[in-house]
Amino acid sequence: MPNAAYKLEMRGICKQFDHNVVLKGVDFCLKPGEIHALIGENGAGKSTLMNILGGVLRADAGEIVLDGQPVHFAGPADSLRAGIAFIHQELNLVNDLAIYENMFIGRELRKGWKLDAAEMCRRSREVFERIGLDIDPRRMVRDLDASYKQIVEIARALLQEARIIIMDEPTTSLTEVEIARVFDMMRTLSAQGVSIVFISHKLKEVLSVCHCYTVLRDGQMVAHGETRGATTEQLAYHMVGHDVRVEKLQVEKRLGAPVLEAKDVSCEPWFRRISFCVRAGEILGFTGLLGDGRSELFQALFGALGRYEGAVELEGKPVRIANTTRALELGIGYVPRNRKENGIVRDLSILENGSLVTLDRFQRGPLLDHGAIRRAFDVQRRDLHIKMGDESDLITSLSGGNQQKVVLAKWLTAGPKVLIFDNPTQGVDVGAKEEIYDIILRLAQQGVAIVILSSEAQEIIRLCDRALVMYHGAIAGELDYTQMDETVMMHMATSGEPAAQ
Ligand SMILES: Nc1ncnc2c1ncn2[C@@H]1O[C@H](COP(=O)(O)OP(=O)(O)OP(=O)(O)O)[C@@H](O)[C@H]1O
Ligand SMILES: [Mg+2]
Repeated sequence: MPNAAYKLEMRGICKQFDHNVVLKGVDFCLKPGEIHALIGENGAGKSTLMNILGGVLRADAGEIVLDGQPVHFAGPADSLRAGIAFIHQELNLVNDLAIYENMFIGRELRKGWKLDAAEMCRRSREVFERIGLDIDPRRMVRDLDASYKQIVEIARALLQEARIIIMDEPTTSLTEVEIARVFDMMRTLSAQGVSIVFISHKLKEVLSVCHCYTVLRDGQMVAHGETRGATTEQLAYHMVGHDVRVEKLQVEKRLGAPVLEAKDVSCEPWFRRISFCVRAGEILGFTGLLGDGRSELFQALFGALGRYEGAVELEGKPVRIANTTRALELGIGYVPRNRKENGIVRDLSILENGSLVTLDRFQRGPLLDHGAIRRAFDVQRRDLHIKMGDESDLITSLSGGNQQKVVLAKWLTAGPKVLIFDNPTQGVDVGAKEEIYDIILRLAQQGVAIVILSSEAQEIIRLCDRALVMYHGAIAGELDYTQMDETVMMHMATSGEPAAQ
């Protein structure tokens, strides 16, 4: 029976891709004005369920009831017409157009033959006012920061009179300030009766912004309820089906010889006079705020910036890392922050993505030893529990977290001396996070020198032997594992001052 209290009811939704049964009779209901978290491990089926609601995919079975009426979506346009907007993580804006042009793309307003820019601007401004923001619609999208781009997408959805907005991992690439801005806007919309589906792996955010939650595990709805009174531990428990460890993973150990040493390394305008040393078997953390130069520092040391000043030594010998090929030869590996932009090649298969950096090792005369490539990847696939169909499927057929594991597999096969991880668990679920931590610890035990760049204080505290906190392109201070503390690190990262002793 349709229930009048619901804006949306999805009942018994089933979906399978070839032999992979992804959704097994899922129920998902949404009330008007509700901010509803959809959570679950990587590959649990969250995006697939929402793709069905967004008309991108067709369900094999089940029904969708909107405002008490059964609906059938033949495509995304149908879903949009019914008032459902899907904000994908890779935003769909054209950088070279103004905000208002993006808002009306494909549905431009005209006055006679000419485009009616004034009217489009006026209506865009109206929508921004509705969500309490003062943005000039004539600004170019290129000049906006990530949170405003997201807000423009949402404003466009509102212009099209969306009453349900789906946000798939919207905060992964946003800073704290930007996240707060997006959350404010979500609350304003909710007060106006717009329902929001919020997909995220950040359980603290889920508890702070959402009214209720639904947990998917292996294509089934395993829990739902109100966030009031719930804890992140409870949510994590539902997601993985058992308790999740949160204790410190770092163990006291004997460190080996220095592997990578930087002496007064600079690259203006990003960072200056950075000196540090990471030893064999050590896990060294770098933290700070977004834009502190951390990522650029390690891009430079991986040869990806193409320039730096100062001296670098590898195993005690001076080296010059002019480009990434040189870095690879020297045994320096780099797992980038954003798998969508840097980590994967979208047009290649899972196997190809998983073996990109090691191909030359499998060269037998003019030929590649495909069997050996496959065997090497297979070892990693099992070790990392990568959930996938066939290895020749496109990498994009995998869920986000599993794509990240394939990127990892590539580096594990390469067997580097130093491995740099830039936010290794971004967009990765709690269970997979622990698996990735295990792998990092194992690598350190094998003597690999590990560098971890992370914005998540807990990640650094749990994993690292030592942490360096960066502030505006310089090192603000160093903490050993006994001194690491979230408040101390936050203070250093926001003030640039070493911790008060
Ligand atoms: N187009 C597709 N073709 C084949 N398999 C797919 C396709 N889309 C998703 N899958 C499979 O469906 C399963 C669920 O994927 P989905 O993207 O829904 O997970 P998710 O819960 O969003 O995970 P994540 O948190 O990692 O984004 C995965 O095993 C994935 O490989
Ligand atoms: Mg997803």
